[in-house]
Amino acid sequence: MHLRGRVVVVTGGGSGIGAAMARRFAAEGARAVVVADRDEGPARVVAAEVERAGTAGVAVRTDVSVEPQVRALVAGALQRFGQVDLVCSNAGVAFGRGLDAGDEDWAQAWSVNVMAHVFAARAVLPSMLARGAGYLLHTCSAAGLLTSPGDAPYTVSKHAAVAFAEWLAVTYGDKGIRISVLCPQGVRTNMLLGGLASGDPAARVVAAAGELLEPEQVADAVVEGLDAERFLILPHPEVATYLRRKASDPDRWLAGLRRLVARAEVPRHGTHP
Ligand SMILES: NC(=O)c1ccc[n+]([C@@H]2O[C@H](COP(=O)([O-])OP(=O)(O)OC[C@H]3O[C@@H](n4cnc5c(N)ncnc54)[C@H](O)[C@@H]3O)[C@@H](O)[C@H]2O)c1
Repeated sequence: MHLRGRVVVVTGGGSGIGAAMARRFAAEGARAVVVADRDEGPARVVAAEVERAGTAGVAVRTDVSVEPQVRALVAGALQRFGQVDLVCSNAGVAFGRGLDAGDEDWAQAWSVNVMAHVFAARAVLPSMLARGAGYLLHTCSAAGLLTSPGDAPYTVSKHAAVAFAEWLAVTYGDKGIRISVLCPQGVRTNMLLGGLASGDPAARVVAAAGELLEPEQVADAVVEGLDAERFLILPHPEVATYLRRKASDPDRWLAGLRRLVARAEVPRHGTHP
């Protein structure tokens, strides 16, 4: 899929990877970028940047964990622009907690990192299927393919998000619908930098695991991956190697991760009281 002339919705678009994608889509000549975020101020700033690039930019305050809000977001975009070509379901949350994660953390991981993708698909797929064309990009994480030592709810919910995207690709891939999962390792955004500043064990392992990319580099990988209509978009190509190692020898892969964790000194139960 080329971005020129497309109508795109990006959730979590006020910051980090979502903001970088929104700007890059505008630079690629998208017709409209709807920037959705629970924080309206940053979403407005990004929408204004999109406008300055000559693309219609709209900011919509949306909590993606609340289905009626996601439905209203998509309905608003359909009403205003006639169609939605690409939904980037990108908002996500991390916790930096292990067994000490509370039920409310697990519930939030489920609602933001998993159900938000389900809500987006429910909202937009009927119009896409009616046209026989449409694209869903779900920002998951390398943690959804491998693991995120130090963050149990994040790891489990991101695995579920990858599983849902695979299910969508199998179910709708022959009906004109394209699905990609974006699975980066460390990216220099508020999520990771905030975690590093507070000594979050998961963030420390991510930083120890390899190169931290800028959000703009992730947006480059997204544009290339959408162009190729590739299911797995891996801005850190080494993640493909880790995935192969995991599949071919899980015990060796787990032992290697334990060594990485020991080097980064991650407490087994997280750092939070
Ligand atoms: N930064 C990394 O190292 C990294 C690595 C792999 C995957 N990811 C994933 O990338 C995605 C984007 O994160 P980021 O790194 O750009 O972080 P970020 O904190 O810069 O941006 C996340 C955005 O999502 C928004 N958001 C959070 N919960 C929301 C909700 N319920 N409704 C609407 N908006 C909400 C936040 O307000 C924020 O603007 C997330 O899904 C994250 O899990 C990040």
